[in-house]
Amino acid sequence: MQAFDVDAIRARFPALSLSQDGRPIVFFDGPGGTQVPQSVIDAVAGYYREANANRSGAFLTSRRTEAIVGDAHAALGDLLGVAGTDITIGPNMTTLTFHISRSIGATLRPGDEVVVSGLDHQANVDPWIAAARDNEAIVRTWEPDLADCTLNLEALDALLSDRTRLVAVGWASNAVGTINPIREIADRVHRAGAWLYVDAVHAAPHLALDALAVDADFVACSVYKFFGPHLGAVYGRPEIMKSLPVYKVRPSHDGFETGTANHEGDAGAAAAVEYLAEIGASYGGAPVESSRRERVLAGMHAIRTYELALYRYLAAGLARLEGVRILGLTADADMDRRTPTAAITIDGVTPHAAAEALGREGIAVWDGDFYATGLIERLGFARDGVLRIGLTHYNTRAEVDRLIDELARISAAAVPAA
Ligand SMILES: Cc1ncc(COP(=O)(O)O)c(C=O)c1O
Repeated sequence: MQAFDVDAIRARFPALSLSQDGRPIVFFDGPGGTQVPQSVIDAVAGYYREANANRSGAFLTSRRTEAIVGDAHAALGDLLGVAGTDITIGPNMTTLTFHISRSIGATLRPGDEVVVSGLDHQANVDPWIAAARDNEAIVRTWEPDLADCTLNLEALDALLSDRTRLVAVGWASNAVGTINPIREIADRVHRAGAWLYVDAVHAAPHLALDALAVDADFVACSVYKFFGPHLGAVYGRPEIMKSLPVYKVRPSHDGFETGTANHEGDAGAAAAVEYLAEIGASYGGAPVESSRRERVLAGMHAIRTYELALYRYLAAGLARLEGVRILGLTADADMDRRTPTAAITIDGVTPHAAAEALGREGIAVWDGDFYATGLIERLGFARDGVLRIGLTHYNTRAEVDRLIDELARISAAAVPAA
């Protein structure tokens, strides 16, 4: 098996050679959206050149579109470990979740309960609050332990009852990187007779996902967070999906896929999953002739190993800086429970000022609450938010070194040595 070759990987991403003031731009903004490999760009452009049409027509480009739509579903199924027919594709995770929550909401009765978490992105919180409000259901909140930004299973047990209909939780936190124990959560939720809706948007670029192994009823993700176009996708357990009322127009047979879809995005989505599969064949030890699912799993394991080593390098660099604190899980023994996403604070510097200073130096990071608004409020950073450094598998130690040098300058300017 070939060693993980980050230079070869980077060569596949045209945007990684963008420069600012003569130096390559460093993209640590992955949790907000990743760059895409040339193969994804080619697939999107190729769709326009060779397959552009609406579906179900009796002519060449429409038939090609039909095949591309089918392959996008199959590919996203391979990413999540489910059948392509159980995948719904839509504009983004938020819109899909509002759409499905409206249907689930229509099955709620007054007094039913839904559980949302205080760790999550609001896209897996507010749709459920709205569905509960519209149907006189009650919302319970699973409060995170703010000391390490984790969700505690006993706290969930205390919220579940025979009135619980649905629990919404993230696979991983896009703000602080905590990975949640989805299988254990699913077991508890199912024992209570409820459904589990998992937001895997932040997990998908970093972890090998298996919706069936963790027994989730719904798993939502966003293709633009894992090297593809701006699209969202949701797996829904077929028995549940078939039982739900669908808000759709009469002639449509596409379930929750309302209206004309983003077919060029579908072409890019399949290419993004194929890219991950290629990583698995090149660096994950998967035989080239093995299934796309097997290659994707191997690819995600290779990515995870590389990213965790890079994250440890980043965390060690940040630990050397005066006045810089990483939120969430920081103990060495806890590295397996986090993604390579560091939310930090810097004494005496607002996250926005730090992000601007880094941006001037060609380093892209996000500041704010990243729509994990409830968590950032609970942590006491509602006003200024935090600074988020999001690593992906195309980042390098040299880029981390550049960041640490700049952060050292930024923090030294704010806190002069005594
Ligand atoms: C964890 C998480 N969930 C949900 C979303 C929303 O995804 P989308 O932009 O596809 O609606 C995001 C986007 O940042 C996210 O990070």
